[in-house]
Amino acid sequence: MQRRAVIQRSLIAGGVMLAGGVPLVVRAAMDAQRRQSPGESARAGLIERAIPVSGERLPVLGVGTNNYSPTSAEERAARKAVLHGLTTAGCRVIDTAPAYRESESVIGELLSEIGNRDQAFIATKVTARAGGRAEGVAMLAESMRRLRTKVLDLVMVHNMVGASVMLPVLREWQRDQRIRYVGITTSSDRQYPEMLGLMRSTPLDFIQVDYSIANRSAAAEILPLAIDRKTAVLINLPFGGRRDGNLFARVRDKRLPDWAAEFDIASWAQFFLKYVISHPAVTCAIPGMTKLANLNDNLGAARGRLPDAQQRTRMENYWDELSGSA
Ligand SMILES: NC(=O)c1ccc[n+]([C@@H]2O[C@H](COP(=O)([O-])OP(=O)(O)OC[C@H]3O[C@@H](n4cnc5c(N)ncnc54)[C@H](OP(=O)(O)O)[C@@H]3O)[C@@H](O)[C@H]2O)c1
Repeated sequence: MQRRAVIQRSLIAGGVMLAGGVPLVVRAAMDAQRRQSPGESARAGLIERAIPVSGERLPVLGVGTNNYSPTSAEERAARKAVLHGLTTAGCRVIDTAPAYRESESVIGELLSEIGNRDQAFIATKVTARAGGRAEGVAMLAESMRRLRTKVLDLVMVHNMVGASVMLPVLREWQRDQRIRYVGITTSSDRQYPEMLGLMRSTPLDFIQVDYSIANRSAAAEILPLAIDRKTAVLINLPFGGRRDGNLFARVRDKRLPDWAAEFDIASWAQFFLKYVISHPAVTCAIPGMTKLANLNDNLGAARGRLPDAQQRTRMENYWDELSGSA
């Protein structure tokens, strides 16, 4: 009861209409999802986390789409297979942004061809630079057009550019039931002081931050504060990005430790993802995936046992030793 009262107070402070303790726009979408979800069997065994502000549950694996501007029919078909496979498996979060070239348009087209918009949780982003509020509002309208949706599940201020202007706008759109959740993103520890400041001063439904076994800075202050502030967390760059030198390059000729099997890890991708997902602050990791084989591999991280705190330390020590000798 106490927790519910706290949530209600913060929602009322944000001006969100409530129905049974859940924002109306959130509850309507939860009902729609329950009616249209792919069924219990597809979701069976998927690890889920609750969004603190609403209690709505999300599977811990989603997809990042900063590489969703295909240049051939084959590339487009591969991305379509990933988006179809993702929701067929019961996963939901699709992270995009106006800054990701054709990504929003491609996702809008592909979800409409597949017919799985209602199973997806679309997270996009907005900024306000020189044009301020008008620029941000125009960007939101364009995101809805490109994504072919009347309701955006989550909109985050991209790298916090124009956050002071855009967060009030996003709350207005949330009250008008055009946006379900509101947040901010970064992928650079240079921006952590700004992110911490906003997290302390403003109620946020979500943050998105970079975190991986090779990049643990967010665990110092950002992730603990997210728990305190009851803020959901999306994790970007769980594999250290798409460029040469990412985590996969660093383990190319390295063997998984035998003990990884104790928490159902069968590949390096699952090792990296289970490390991220097992942090108690994390709601969902959004690795970039443009290949069905990679999705299928990564789905293995959203099932089975997760490492506990002691096992996470063992993973860190193993990684530190391994990368020190790489
Ligand atoms: N500031 C921000 O808001 C911000 C900044 C950066 C990123 N992001 C978001 O975070 C998402 C993730 O970042 P990212 O895509 O740059 O980096 P990432 O998730 O760390 O790495 C993606 C790379 O890993 C590969 N991969 C995925 N699964 C694999 C597997 N099982 N085995 C081997 N390789 C695998 C992908 O290959 P394939 O593509 O070939 O499958 C891709 O090259 C972005 O797409 C974006 O949505 C947000």
